[in-house]
Amino acid sequence: MANATSQAQEVRPTLDTLTAIRTRRAIKQYLDTPIPKEWVEELLDAAHWAPNHNLTHPWRFHVFSGDGRERLVAAREQAVRFAAQRRGEEVTDEMLGLARQKCYSSPVIIIVAMVGDDNPIVDRENYAACWVAIENLLLAATARGLGSYPSTGDWIDQNFVGPVLGLTEKERPVSCVFLGYSEQPTMGKRLPVARHTFWYTEA
Ligand SMILES: Cc1cc2nc3c(=O)[nH]c(=O)nc-3n(C[C@H](O)[C@H](O)[C@H](O)COP(=O)(O)O)c2cc1C
Repeated sequence: MANATSQAQEVRPTLDTLTAIRTRRAIKQYLDTPIPKEWVEELLDAAHWAPNHNLTHPWRFHVFSGDGRERLVAAREQAVRFAAQRRGEEVTDEMLGLARQKCYSSPVIIIVAMVGDDNPIVDRENYAACWVAIENLLLAATARGLGSYPSTGDWIDQNFVGPVLGLTEKERPVSCVFLGYSEQPTMGKRLPVARHTFWYTEA
């Protein structure tokens, strides 16, 4: 992702699907280069085309950028306090500082929330559809030369972001997605798929 700044202003790459799948990596170090709103909208549109059973459209995308990211800080700090308490430790200013820093670590942060359902099967399908949508988003970002990664953790799992997003009782957060240009070197690691594949070719 060299020359990310000029890329953001001029050239927009488009990778084919298989290349995007293979080259997508979890990126943690981002440049400050802003991403135009329409470009984020394109990624959300890709997410929105994910399969979802009975077209429940279970995903809700909450997009934070610029000063909007300040809204996330209290939730992240709460998660840090929660984790420290679980470990029986005191919260330090350094921990709280890192929590704040995380909220500004990429120019765009998207929290994907889902609409749950009283029927556990529908609920599970909705959750699964949200993750398919997240993968679509990550792949579309990769295709456009943007780095990204999904992240859960206590602020998602314990729903500390709920009040920030104004989630209703039926809704819950699924994952946070960090998004931005990056020059971080990456190395993909996977075991050979044959190790996890079972073929049935005879009766
Ligand atoms: C459900 C899920 C939750 C994840 N949560 C986190 C997280 O909380 N923090 C993190 O650093 N990465 C998280 N990741 C990213 C994975 O750690 C990452 O995909 C994995 O290390 C493989 O790296 P790669 O995506 O570059 O191949 C999560 C991924 C998934 C699918």
